[in-house]
Amino acid sequence: MVSNEFAIAIMAAGKGTRLKSKRPKVLHEISGRALLLHVIAAAETVVPADHIYCIIGHESERVKAAVASTGVQFVLQPEQRGTGHAMQMLKADFELSGKPIPQHLLVLSGDVPLIRPETIAAVRDTHLREHAAMTILTAVPADPTGYGRVLRANPNTPEVTAIVEQKALRPDQLNAPEINSGIYCFETRALFAKLDALDTNNAHGEFYLTDVAAMLVAEGKRVVAIKADSVDEVLGANTIAEMMHLDAAMRLATAKRLMAAGVTIFRPETCVIDAQVTVGSDTTIEPYVQLLGNTRIGSDSRIRSYSVIQDSALGDNVLVRNGCILDNAEVANNAILGPYAHLRPESRIGDGAHVGNFVETKKATIGKGSKANHLNYLGDTVIGAGVNIGAGAITCNYDGVNKHLTTIGDGAFIGSDSTLVAPVTIGAGSYIAAGSSITEDVPEGALALGRSRQTTKPGWVAARKAAAEAKKD
Ligand code: UD1
Ligand code: MG
Repeated sequence: MVSNEFAIAIMAAGKGTRLKSKRPKVLHEISGRALLLHVIAAAETVVPADHIYCIIGHESERVKAAVASTGVQFVLQPEQRGTGHAMQMLKADFELSGKPIPQHLLVLSGDVPLIRPETIAAVRDTHLREHAAMTILTAVPADPTGYGRVLRANPNTPEVTAIVEQKALRPDQLNAPEINSGIYCFETRALFAKLDALDTNNAHGEFYLTDVAAMLVAEGKRVVAIKADSVDEVLGANTIAEMMHLDAAMRLATAKRLMAAGVTIFRPETCVIDAQVTVGSDTTIEPYVQLLGNTRIGSDSRIRSYSVIQDSALGDNVLVRNGCILDNAEVANNAILGPYAHLRPESRIGDGAHVGNFVETKKATIGKGSKANHLNYLGDTVIGAGVNIGAGAITCNYDGVNKHLTTIGDGAFIGSDSTLVAPVTIGAGSYIAAGSSITEDVPEGALALGRSRQTTKPGWVAARKAAAEAKKD
């Protein structure tokens, strides 16, 4: 098969009225990714990106900006007058641009996001094998209400007579079980030849692409249906509830994929794992964990409950204790985090380092084996290896206008409750006395004390009491 015999159109111009949302439907997310990006990813496995035409309309600039990096083409449907009208716009685009018309056109719906590459390929292959003018992907869900129904000449043969939209079903057709998925393959010229004859004499006053089926049949052309292997992958997302159903289905599929690759996920139905996340074998994910965006976790690690990890890379044998929040962080092998650590963007935790209870890091590099275990704020800092940061010590990185760097050399010991006022450099192997406010650089191997001396007054309490008693008399 020559790849340019096929193009794919993705209908994505609709507003999604039933969502009652300001966001265009195809930019709503399931499994951490916009609906349209899921569909484009599946389409790209069948044809190259520049053979994919996204038909956009409602908030077209916003939709375009969200998916432009994929390299797909765009066709504008300024007014959304139905799925048939969307195809009229595509036809006009080919005619105006003079681009060669592909022999076959696969049509996908921007709101049917679970479609698998194998299924698109199966529609294409059936279409070629059956020499059809139109091939329709169908399914038989438990409740077909709301979908267009595909009527066959005979239940055991592939030939279709018509697609009837829900609102146009006759009483005796209301129970027709086979739904139209909104995914098709057309002989492009046969489709284009029918588009001008569509009308809007229907319940929605729209041009229905689905009407093309009966029009082709009337002309003696072959229209066939192929059933999808799984119902879930052709379900549409027209309401938030439907969207969340698909989200759950996709996340469960992701969890199953990870488990099949040797990851232990306790109570996977409680975890929120985005589609692109990768996890190495023998890693354990406890209940109620969220792994989001482009997160990668190595092998033999453990993520305890209630941790939320976004766009972060974790190595092997890492322990993330309960309730940690990571955003754009890198964590090397053998590190231990939490409980309740907050790693903000550009935190780089070294091999075997510990970042403990209620510690916040931001733009912080923490070297091999260093420890910051209790109640620290470490921002804009480069910390060497084998450093011990005592409880409550913080970097004072912000002077109200600018951020400044704190550098701490290998093996330094920062006493509890110290404040390191940046810019400042603490030399390797030096000691900072507890409770110090450090405003000047500390050379290697030195002890720095930045606090006032303690004064102790023996017997002071008794003396004060005696003075008070004397006053009373
Ligand atoms: C459509 C089908 C229905 C099928 C269902 C499957 C029609 C008339 N009906 O109904 O048979 O069972 O999908 O999910 O096609 N769109 C445009 N431009 C428009 C209108 C829609 O690009 O003018 C896009 C939408 O953004 C959406 C897709 O086409 O991604 C389908 O439109 P939608 O309004 O959701 O159609 P359904 O009512 O779901
Ligand atoms: Mg729909």
